[in-house]
Amino acid sequence: MQLSGFNGTLALVTGAGGGIGEALVNQLRASGCIVVATDLVAPVMEDVPGLPAMHAMALDVTDSRAVDALVARVEHELGPIGFGINVAGILQFGTVEHIDDATWRRTFAVNADGVFYVSRALARVMTPRRRGVIVTVGSNAAGIPRHAMAAYAASKAATAMFMRCLGLELAPFGIRCNSVAPGSTRTPMQTGMWADDSGEQRVIDGIPEDYKTGIPLGKLAQPEDIANAVMFLLSDQAGHIVMDDLYVDGGATLR
Ligand code: NAI
Repeated sequence: MQLSGFNGTLALVTGAGGGIGEALVNQLRASGCIVVATDLVAPVMEDVPGLPAMHAMALDVTDSRAVDALVARVEHELGPIGFGINVAGILQFGTVEHIDDATWRRTFAVNADGVFYVSRALARVMTPRRRGVIVTVGSNAAGIPRHAMAAYAASKAATAMFMRCLGLELAPFGIRCNSVAPGSTRTPMQTGMWADDSGEQRVIDGIPEDYKTGIPLGKLAQPEDIANAVMFLLSDQAGHIVMDDLYVDGGATLR
């Protein structure tokens, strides 16, 4: 099946400088999208001959004014945003008694508030033209309690429900909203947790060794696996899918 609906569409991606974000930007560009790639620092990506130009911009998703200003600027300078993809996220470990206020707030600020700010700004411009697709990269941690991950998991669970409510509100306008819930994926976020890259030895003591044994497929996802799922949800072929949360975790959640 050839996915369609990308050519010439303007796509806004947050967290585009990270592992999953970069893989997604590459796939969007290869499919003919004009991509606005944003991250805390404007991502650096090569110009590829034959592919549409990429617009790299700095955006901190926790700053709602900056989010509104960027969406307004992009719409004014580049045209209507067709796709919005929330990828930005942070993970900080800590058992509940060790999570300080700042860590809890920062985790929610990026993983939950940021998704709300970006999605709200997009909803405001997409609803009048009754067109658009929003996809958020959540996490399977939203559904699986894990040791020392309460702040992250709770923020992702909040976002998963937010995306369903958003999907309910925007569906009558023909705007489709969905999430992807990755499991452990080989990116800087994930490999930063390991002493080596093999997945055998963890930096953080006291966290159960459930990563390898807990994934029925027996391997971590690659960033491209997650990008593939996002691309499907953006495509015309997902035209009847709204309010979904597509798990891409090698079976970890349902094992
Ligand atoms: P990553 O750490 O490689 O990329 C995350 C990006 O978000 C970074 O480039 C970072 O600069 C950016 N970011 C952080 N705070 C930001 C802010 N305030 N404003 C804008 N950008 C900000 O991580 P990865 O793995 O590519 O993660 C992408 C998404 O996938 C995240 O939402 C993460 O929670 C989710 N995810 C990742 C999994 C994994 O195992 N790698 C598993 C499940 C979900």
